[in-house]
Formats: sequence, C-alpha cells, structure tokens
Amino acid sequence: MITAETIEKIKETARIEEVVGDFVHLKKRGSSLIGNCPFHGEKTPSFHVSVNKGIYKCFGCGVAGDSVRFIMEHEKYSYPEALKFLATKYNIEVEETVESKENIELNSARESLYIVSQFAANFFEDQLWNSADGKAIGLSYFKERGFREDIIKKFNLGYSPDVWDALTLEAVKNQHSEEFLEKTGLSIRNDKSKLYDRFRGRVMFPIHNFTGRVIGFGGRTLKTDKNVPKYVNSPDSDIYHKSNVLYGLFHAKKAIRDQDNCYLVEGYADVLAVHQAYIENVVASSGTSLTIEQIKLIARFTQNVTILYDGDAAGIKASLRGLDMILEEGLNVKVVSFPDGDDPDSYMHKVGAGAFKTYVEEQRQDFILYKANILLAEAGKDPIKKAGIIRDIVESIAKIPDNIKASVFIKECSHLLEIEERVLLTELNAIKVAKSKKAAAPQRAATSNFGHPDMPPDDLFAEGGPAMAEPEVTSTAQVSTDILQEQEIVRLLLTFGHELATWEQTDNMYVGSFIIQNLSDVTFENELCRRIVDYYRNELENGQLPTINQFLRSEDQEIANLAITLSTSEYSLSENWLNKHQIYVKDETHNIKSAVLGGLYYLKKHKVDRMLTDLMTQIKEEKDVTNQEILLGRYAQFKNVERSISKFLGSVIVK
Ligand code: UTP
Ligand code: MN
Repeated sequence: MITAETIEKIKETARIEEVVGDFVHLKKRGSSLIGNCPFHGEKTPSFHVSVNKGIYKCFGCGVAGDSVRFIMEHEKYSYPEALKFLATKYNIEVEETVESKENIELNSARESLYIVSQFAANFFEDQLWNSADGKAIGLSYFKERGFREDIIKKFNLGYSPDVWDALTLEAVKNQHSEEFLEKTGLSIRNDKSKLYDRFRGRVMFPIHNFTGRVIGFGGRTLKTDKNVPKYVNSPDSDIYHKSNVLYGLFHAKKAIRDQDNCYLVEGYADVLAVHQAYIENVVASSGTSLTIEQIKLIARFTQNVTILYDGDAAGIKASLRGLDMILEEGLNVKVVSFPDGDDPDSYMHKVGAGAFKTYVEEQRQDFILYKANILLAEAGKDPIKKAGIIRDIVESIAKIPDNIKASVFIKECSHLLEIEERVLLTELNAIKVAKSKKAAAPQRAATSNFGHPDMPPDDLFAEGGPAMAEPEVTSTAQVSTDILQEQEIVRLLLTFGHELATWEQTDNMYVGSFIIQNLSDVTFENELCRRIVDYYRNELENGQLPTINQFLRSEDQEIANLAITLSTSEYSLSENWLNKHQIYVKDETHNIKSAVLGGLYYLKKHKVDRMLTDLMTQIKEEKDVTNQEILLGRYAQFKNVERSISKFLGSVIVK
C-alpha cells in the first residue's frame, strides 16, 4: 500500500490543470478552465476544470473528480496505478507500507508471472530477429505474408524454436522458477515430471494487457498440415483471462479515443494488417465469440464499434445475434463486410493500405440496417419468412437502451421493410413491455437527479458558494424530499464547516461542529449522506476539522461525486430552505447563520412532520381506546415540537 503521506503529497503536487492539460486543450473562462470533454465526443466544450478546487466536471456526460480520478478514468488505471503515474510525472518518491504476508505473496506471485511472460516475449523476439531458424523460418514467413518490419516490431512478434525445451531451459538458466513457467502455461510438465515448451516451431504473438504488460501468447503454426492446430494459445492464468482481453488494445487505445471508434476484427493477423494500413484503432476478439467483458472494455474508450467482417455469408449470419449484445450495452454498431472469401488481412494485402482505408471508411453501414438487408435478401418474396424477419429486427432494436435512437431505426426499417412505422412500433413496445416485466423494478439512485448536466452556469466555480435557482420539477419530483434536505445539510457542512459560528456564545465553535452537534437527534435516511456525516463526526471526535478537499478528492467515488455536485452545480434543490421562503440571497456567505439554522431546522421539521403523519395513520387504525389515547398524547407532544421549530424558523430569517 502507498502510504497516506505519499498520497497526500501526490494529490498536493499534481495540479489539476497540468494533469488534465496533458490530455485536453484548456481555455480560460471566468474563474475556471474549459475544454472538450475527453470522455465523450463533443464539439462545444462542457468540460470544466476548477484550479482552486482541484477538480474537473463535465456538464455533458457528468464525469467528475480530482487529478487522480482523471488519470484513472483517462488511462483506465487502478487507484494505485494512477498514483504511481502521477508520482513519476512529478518525480515524487513513492513510499509503500509493508503489506500483509498473504498480500505480498499474492502480489509477488502475480508479479513473477508478469516477469516470466516478459522474459519469454523477449526470448521469442530475439529468436525471430537473431537466430538462424528464426530469421529463415519465422521472419521470412511474416515477410512473405506482406507484413512490414515496423509492424512486426511494434507488436513484438517472435519465433519459438522447434525443439522441446528451448524456452524452459533458457528461463531456468536465468533464475526463473519452474512454478511460474508452469503457471503461465509457457511450460508443461510431462508424465515423467519433466518440463517442456508449450510453443514450439511457431510464430509468436505476445498478448498485452491495456497497460502494456505481456500476459499471454498466441503461437501460429507454419505447417499446412490440417492435423496441427493453427493456433496454440496460453491458458488462462492469474494474469491472463481470455474473456477480459482484447488483442491489440494497448496499441489501439489512444487511437480509439482520438477517433472515437473501435474497429473489431477476428484474428491476430487482421489486427496487424489493419495497423499496416495506418488504422490504429483496431482490436481482435481472438477467435472466441465476443464477451460482455470485452464489450465493456471497449465502452470505456468509445461508444462506437465497427465490425470488420469476413465476406463469408454463413459466418455473418451466425454472428448477427452475438452483436445484439453490443447494442444492449448502448454502443453504436457499424459493420463493414469484405468481398466473398476475403478477411481484413487478405483484403488489405490485395488492394494495398490506401485503398483499404478508403474501402473501410466508405463501406461502413449501420448494423441494424445491414442485418435487415441480409435477412431480407435471404427471405426473398416469402411472406412468412418476411414476418419472421420483422420480429428478429425489432428484437435487435429493442436492445438499444436509448429510445430516441431506437425510434430512428424503426423509421429507417419501416422504409426498408416496406412496413408501416406504426406496426413496427407496436411490435417494439410489446417486446419492451415483456422485457420490463421480466426485469425487477429499477432502483433509483438517490443522487442521480442532482445538478443540471446540460446547463453549466457561467459562474460555476465562482468562490463564495452557489446561488439559488428555480427547482427542476421533473427531476426533483421523483426524489424523496428528505433526501434533498439531507443533501442540503451535507452541502452546508462542506461549504461552511470551516467558518466560525459567530451567532454562538462560545467563540471557538466552527459551523461544522455546530451542525454535527445539532444532528444528534436526527437519523439520516440516505446512506451516502449518512456516510459523509458519520465521517465528519468521526473526524471531529478525533480533533480534526475535515476540509472540503477531503470530500472532493475522496477515494470513494460516490462521496467525491456528491461533494462535487453539491459544491459546483448551481444549487437547484426545491427544498432548500431559503428558497422555499423566497429569500433570494445573492451571496449565501453573508447569511451563513440563516442558511445553517434554516437547513438544520427545516430538516428537523420535515422529520417531525413525517412522524406526525405516521402517528395520525396509526391513530386512525388503532381500535383500542387506551392505545389511541397514548398515541394522541404522543401526537400532541410532537405537534408542540413542530410548532416551536416553525416559530424558530420564522425568527431566524435574517433579511
Ligand atoms: P483465423 O483463422 O482467422 O486466424 O482465426 P488469423 O489470425 O487470421 O490467422 P491467419 O490469417 O490464418 O494467419 C481468428 C482467431 O481465432 C483464434 C486466433 O486468435 C485467431 O487469430 N484461433 C484460430 C485460435 O485460437 N485457434 C485456432 O486454431 C484458430
Ligand atoms: Mn486470417
């Protein structure tokens, strides 16, 4: 584990504008910097960076965080990976605490697997370029197929000698343990307990994870013998999970993001060929049918996938269904098919890099229309077959989560299939209803309706707290008002916690402490708000006054998101107390007292009101007269509390 001191130092040093500035062109606007969001395609900038707060927030797609979060999202790094990345950028020495024995063993075992895999990759590559057989057999094979040297080098292709234990012997000689050779599958133990090489006499394709470390291999035979498997692959191991890996992603990820599109092919050779045509945003599913994990991996970089198909009709039909899975993840799917018998690799070598690129760009079709066309051609004039197709296509469209997009396809398919749009829509709705009945009622995230993602206010990051605004009826109506109240308290804590509570008799009382003290009789219903308040209380009990940065830059992304939303979005909660009383306060800081007291007591009033309603229901349902009396007594007590709160609220309004 990286020590807290190091993390602190990294967070202090890694200035948000510099970290983001490495990837996004930022321009100054007011007190913040803005640019085009690197996480979703956009032409007008809605990505804001606050230098003072050390955070970013996109009002287009909603991403938000600090420097570390930015690197995690942008480079797809884990938390420690992102910290180390920034430490390197700023020359900060990373101190790590001593870990538990199990952790050390686990990590060092994984590390050993990476190390031996890298060793093997170097060995195979060296064989390809420097050994007699490697050059005569392996290198000349690649060259005969038309692959350029820069491509062969870029992908670190190699050659495994055609002997039983070339790699195993060399690895052991270099102090690599047999255990890790076996665990990576590079070596196999025979029944006489002797190790031999998995890959022999094959050209080698090392497989990298997306941070560029070698995790496995594919080895292609050079023989045409049908009895020899064309590819031998590394088995799954602690560092290699086939279903989570896309071949070529490491080399493609930057281009995928830049082009906002990912080409998907089937084979290793296709990835090389497409790269050779100067198209770098390409990955391969490596033979297995595409998995959900692989689709999610692509979705981290772009929402657009273009499948490059072999021109073999049977194969295309078989894979059509699998592509619905991509639609379901909300991605836009396009396809390019090649003339019969050609795959991307053979076609590129046939027509050359330039013509290939043009072909791919011009032949791109939308997947649903492509599918409709193929099925339509197959059905011919047969009306029964045609009816089946309609169902099939509408089922694909029903997978698209975005209703607007779906309706566009319905329109286009209605032309194509010569069927009234209304009929297709009825079919679509029937499928959707059936689907929604199956799925459980969706859980509404309490915080998801906050902020106005598409309307960034100009003075977004202005100091001195946000101004009040009109509530948005549609979004707030669905959220329990208690949650709004609770969020208001959290906002007050974060915004004013550091100020002195000047209205208190004791001089040294901070607003943070005042709020926490006054919450002792309140139970928070929203789990996230409760977590923040509990954390705040805990820190106070330990003699620390938490800073807003601790929340804005929390490792807990939920906390960070809420803190950012509450402190940046134009404050729009309908239940804000001052707002409710139509008190327009230009600068809330001048009115901390009424904001805090109002917020606190408005929340309390809400809770008491709720209790009163509950009690009233109980009273009506209670048959037993004695019980009813007890309840009525309790009701009267709470009513008194409610009255005094209301009165108090009336008195704290400071004009
Ligand atoms: P292909 O047969 O299309 O392979 O299988 P390719 O990479 O284009 O190879 P060339 O052009 O014949 O040299 C597609 C992918 O399926 C996996 C490999 O990942 C291959 O790249 N595959 C194929 C295997 O794992 N094992 C096999 O025996 C065949
Ligand atoms: Mn091929």
